[in-house]
Amino acid sequence: MKGIVAFDSKYGNTKHVAEAIAEEIETLGHEVILVSIAHTLKFDDDADFILIGSPTRMARMTFRTKMFIRRARKKYAGKPGAAFETSLRAPEDPEARAKMSKWIDDAAGAKIKRMAEEGGIIMFDEILKAEVVDTYGPLMPKTLNRSREFARRFIESLEKK
Ligand SMILES: Cc1cc2nc3c(=O)[nH]c(=O)nc-3n(C[C@H](O)[C@H](O)[C@H](O)COP(=O)(O)O)c2cc1C
Repeated sequence: MKGIVAFDSKYGNTKHVAEAIAEEIETLGHEVILVSIAHTLKFDDDADFILIGSPTRMARMTFRTKMFIRRARKKYAGKPGAAFETSLRAPEDPEARAKMSKWIDDAAGAKIKRMAEEGGIIMFDEILKAEVVDTYGPLMPKTLNRSREFARRFIESLEKK
């Protein structure tokens, strides 16, 4: 199969996650086209599946990602997809977490999934939430491993169909 891994990224964290996902999919024997949304809204429209990722900004995906999905869903309706995001590490203390809830729950990944689904892309149930230690990064330890595992589960879900 051939797939697209599209991402937006300002400080590089979401790019690292996208690269790890792409590498894993290639390791599994598939062709991958990495698309940096910051550089182009154009994409290959004959791939078999599409993954879309964005940093979380004010609990949303970036505007560019929104523009990208608007185009992608015309071409990828009826095809499988998956969403990933980077976002701030959730505090362990439940009270502190509750205070941050509106910034970290229903964040970029959930919104990407909804918007893509509304356009007919058949989205993988699981959303990869990759956390950063601080506002500009770095990624939390083991995040790239989690990203690869997510990619593997997504591909396995396609192979079962
Ligand atoms: C202006 C700004 C707003 C942000 N808002 C949120 C937010 O609402 N929720 C969240 O979890 N992280 C938020 N973050 C942290 C970003 O998710 C983090 O910078 C992002 O993962 C970095 O991705 P990138 O390196 O690919 O640009 C914000 C960061 C910036 C700079």
